[in-house]
Amino acid sequence: MADPILSLTNVTVKFGALRAVDSVWMTLAAGERRAVLGPNGAGKTTLFNAITGAIPPTTGKVFFDGVDMTNLPPEKRAQLGVARTFQITNLFGQMSVYENMKLAARGLSPSKFSLFGADRLTAEQEERVRLALSLSRLNGREQSPVREMSYGEQRQLEVAMALVGTPRLLLLDEPAAGLSPAERGYLAEIIRGLPRDLTVVLIEHDMDLALALVDSVTVMQNGKVIVESDPAGIRTNALVQEVYLGRPHKAVAAELEGDR
Ligand SMILES: Nc1ncnc2c1ncn2[C@@H]1O[C@H](COP(=O)(O)OP(=O)(O)O)[C@@H](O)[C@H]1O
Ligand SMILES: [Mg+2]
Repeated sequence: MADPILSLTNVTVKFGALRAVDSVWMTLAAGERRAVLGPNGAGKTTLFNAITGAIPPTTGKVFFDGVDMTNLPPEKRAQLGVARTFQITNLFGQMSVYENMKLAARGLSPSKFSLFGADRLTAEQEERVRLALSLSRLNGREQSPVREMSYGEQRQLEVAMALVGTPRLLLLDEPAAGLSPAERGYLAEIIRGLPRDLTVVLIEHDMDLALALVDSVTVMQNGKVIVESDPAGIRTNALVQEVYLGRPHKAVAAELEGDR
């Protein structure tokens, strides 16, 4: 494999007696696109928290581009190039797209809204805002109040806010959750169109959507990695069908049908 950009070595995150993430090893090459699948409660979001520093690992280490980030706070990890979106929408509804982007460009989340919000961005920050909005296909929507946008557009804005720091690793936590089929397709196109040198990890419930976007897949259950494979291997993996889907998935069922 090319030099790994992200490497987790034996990472465990405990909440009391619960091992939400249990002895996970994971390596991502620069530019790789990885899906993390698994049932609710599998530990997917907690894995992201361990990578971003929101919840540091109980044991194990997290390396990013050769740097041991295990004990770095989230802001430092963000500065190194780690960005994420959240499973729950995290926007300031009464503000415009541009105002949300302005906070993100300064490294402030809407929940840390400050009086400095009125300050102008530097030319370099403006350029990053422009590029991030363009990648998220929200150019021209700068003045739209967020609360008047569709849910799909709000998820696009969250991607734009994560991109504004020009990260090298982007973690997307169920970006398509709650979207209509048309909105999901549009968001998938946006993810597909992200720069190829950006490493992307995608938590996604819709397996068809996820498998169409990634190079590799990690399946988790009860905090553990139970399968790691390319997308083709996932579709036909009996353990995945059983654990993740509980029943034969329609794509899997169709393939099995075709094999007969
Ligand atoms: N901050 C927390 N405190 C205690 N338990 C947590 C916390 N976050 C997650 N958990 C528990 O850890 C397990 C994994 O949760 P999570 O990572 O959110 O799973 P997923 O994202 O795969 O649905 C669940 O049992 C959940 O209840
Ligand atoms: Mg989750």
